[in-house]
Amino acid sequence: MSAAPDVVWKNGKFGQTSRRDAWWLSPTLVFLGFSAFIVYSTWAAFQNQYYTFGPYISPFYSPELFGSSSHALFGPKPHWLPGFLPYSPAFLILWIPGLFRLTCYYYRGAYYKSFWADPPACAVGEPRKSYLGERSFPLIMQNYHRYFLRLSYIVWFSLVYDAIVSFRFPSGFGIGVGSLVLTINVILLGGYVFGCHAFRHLIGGTFDSISEHPIRHKLYNAVSFLNSKHKNWAWASLFWVGFSDIYIRLCAMGIWHDWRLF
Ligand code: FES
Repeated sequence: MSAAPDVVWKNGKFGQTSRRDAWWLSPTLVFLGFSAFIVYSTWAAFQNQYYTFGPYISPFYSPELFGSSSHALFGPKPHWLPGFLPYSPAFLILWIPGLFRLTCYYYRGAYYKSFWADPPACAVGEPRKSYLGERSFPLIMQNYHRYFLRLSYIVWFSLVYDAIVSFRFPSGFGIGVGSLVLTINVILLGGYVFGCHAFRHLIGGTFDSISEHPIRHKLYNAVSFLNSKHKNWAWASLFWVGFSDIYIRLCAMGIWHDWRLF
């Protein structure tokens, strides 16, 4: 008879386990998915071109504070920014959703397993014996998630505005495939942001008896519904925000054609 899983987890060597299922599959897929997104989004942020097409702007670059496109809120890159530093409008924004996802409760559990193998999966031997947890530096910084949540509202509302503007063509109201791409993007990101564990706490976690507050109770139930599929929203929105950038980039480069549906 094999050893109990908790004995193997504490005393086994790295990767040792009595599990017989494909425990390595999920962390491997997470590793590949995250790595692909990090490499692509970093590359896209440095491009500083092909991020707008007609009424569309890539979500990696929005809100565009200073830039050369017609979407820029405050005009071109200001002179007081050092000229020797590489610049892209994405640099001013992308750190917000980046840190929001990095400190997300779901993603933490996922990348602790897939990138640090700490442990690689439940009841599988890990490579180190010490454990500092999230009460010491640097992981205590994960507690800033609630602040990145608040900044993420601003970014999300900016993306909602972009989705609305994506229906406004020079000839008037219209629907392009890009309009649908950006609309789906804000729906998926909304499902992710408003299903956040920290947001759920903000909505109802401070009441002793939330059923005594009917409106907050309804909101709490709605957030709990989104929260129950937080992992799915996290992956769907991550994939789609990357695809939205790819779509606009390829249209701007003339490789894809943006079909007008209306
Ligand atoms: Fe995942 Fe807040 S816990 S976004």
